[in-house]
Amino acid sequence: MDRKEFLVTLGKGAAVAGLAYCVGCSANGNDVPTAPNSVDMTLDLTQSSNSPLNIIGGSIVTNGIIIGRTGASSFVAVSAACTHQGTTVQFQLNNNRFYCNNHGSTFALDGTVTMGPAGRALTKYNTSLNGNNLRIFS
Ligand code: FES
Repeated sequence: MDRKEFLVTLGKGAAVAGLAYCVGCSANGNDVPTAPNSVDMTLDLTQSSNSPLNIIGGSIVTNGIIIGRTGASSFVAVSAACTHQGTTVQFQLNNNRFYCNNHGSTFALDGTVTMGPAGRALTKYNTSLNGNNLRIFS
């Protein structure tokens, strides 16, 4: 293979790699999973899968929603998919925010964008604690 053939082959490979990279991605967020709507679920905090919520600052992700504990009896719940490109956001109580480690977007605890590139808020859900049952609802 001469130099020219090598460069042509390299170019074709790069084009294929570029196509593969862009499949399923979107710079404008059009491929971001839709936030769950008509939500009404109850989590039993005695279940081991929900145990992170027994610690202030703890969080879980379930059914497309991230739920974080902010105090003795207070919680926040928002859609988990970053509105930029859909990466699951992290709950960071120390910074009073949700954080996307993909491109650095941050969201206030009510889901509003505090730093892009995300351009849309996360969907916020209501929470209500009754004993060990935490209800998350639209
Ligand atoms: S996916 Fe890009 S900032 Fe979240």
